[in-house]
Amino acid sequence: MSTTTHRIIVGDAADMGGVADSSVALVVTSPPYPMIGMWDELFRARDPRIGDALDAGDGPAAFERMHADLDRVWAEVRRVLINGGIACVNIGDATRTVADRFRLYSNHARIVSSFVDLGLDVLPAIIWRKQTNAPNKFMGSGMLPGGAYVTLEHEYILVFRNGARRAFDTDRTKSARRRSAYFWEERNRWFSDLWDFKGVRQALAPTDPRLRSAAFPFELAYRLIGMYSCEGDTVLDPFVGTGTTTLAAIAAARDSIGVEIDAGMLAAVRARVDGCAPALNDYLRQRVSSHLEFCTARERETGVQLTYRSRHHGFPVMTAQEVDMVMEVVSTVTADDSGWTAEHDPLGRVAAPADLIALGAGPGAPGAGAAGQSQQSLFDDVPAAARSEQASR
Ligand SMILES: C[S@@+](CC[C@H](N)C(=O)[O-])C[C@H]1O[C@@H](n2cnc3c(N)ncnc32)[C@H](O)[C@@H]1O
Repeated sequence: MSTTTHRIIVGDAADMGGVADSSVALVVTSPPYPMIGMWDELFRARDPRIGDALDAGDGPAAFERMHADLDRVWAEVRRVLINGGIACVNIGDATRTVADRFRLYSNHARIVSSFVDLGLDVLPAIIWRKQTNAPNKFMGSGMLPGGAYVTLEHEYILVFRNGARRAFDTDRTKSARRRSAYFWEERNRWFSDLWDFKGVRQALAPTDPRLRSAAFPFELAYRLIGMYSCEGDTVLDPFVGTGTTTLAAIAAARDSIGVEIDAGMLAAVRARVDGCAPALNDYLRQRVSSHLEFCTARERETGVQLTYRSRHHGFPVMTAQEVDMVMEVVSTVTADDSGWTAEHDPLGRVAAPADLIALGAGPGAPGAGAAGQSQQSLFDDVPAAARSEQASR
């Protein structure tokens, strides 16, 4: 059994005094997007010169001042990252007409330049391609050449490293790394530079604070945590919003810290994290189930049995690197004053698909709630209003 802690700090990520220097292995985050209307009010409140620039019709000056405000957070990110720690920043560019001039505000380029100035190394980024079904997604002069603009249908996940590659040179860190392995076929999907999954489902009431949250999908946070951190690591989200990173960290059995300036978001975080174990275990069950389907298809296609076996779980795996992986189910998630404590139990042996039932799919399984208890959708719920605004990004 292992225990992880998940703190939420209500405050300004530009001053994360409660987070120690060099204590965070991975940052997964998405800031308010400069020059996207839904965040104007927040930026105006943080620096009146931003409002002045917008009111004066000076888009580039407003853009620069918004980023100067985010730069203070990026400096904090560098301070708290360990040597070799990774920062993943989900960001979309903005298109906007200010004082009759339509133009692109390249948020991703400006953030790359901030991290370079801070001395972090830029690693290959991921393009997250979001499908948009908006009927009026094309901007400009319709079928006439010269005045139309391509539609922004993607966002970026920028990836930076603080210093040289992380060393895994003690028995403890080597073992933690091997226990945190992911599946071969997951590696092939996760480490592609193009992610093509849906943004969100939109099922929230108009009064819900998540209407302003612009949450990213659970899958996005979960993958990044799996790709860039190990058991025992702490994951930080300085703009935690509705707590998607917190949920993914619980699912992945990593410690986490979320920082959020808007105390009104706490209710949304609580609504998602309290009682989240059954849904998270169901997600893990799906992961194992997909793996078993992959193994079956692979053996059928090649006519050759997979030679490696997971030492802990018994199922076949493709490579020696996966042999020591340990998947953990969430047994309990208990709220306390600063957040939550989660207890995790190693998943037992899974020899056949039927064994997956023991993974949290049914009542009585580890982490399962009372029979009939409804499981809120944890994985892809993003506010309609927020997303429709983002669709014009
Ligand atoms: C794009 S949203 C993040 C959504 C989050 N990824 C999720 O899945 O819910 C940005 C969040 O950062 C918060 N925020 C903005 N400026 C902040 C600051 N300086 N410090 C801490 N939080 C801030 C906003 O209130 C908002 O909830």
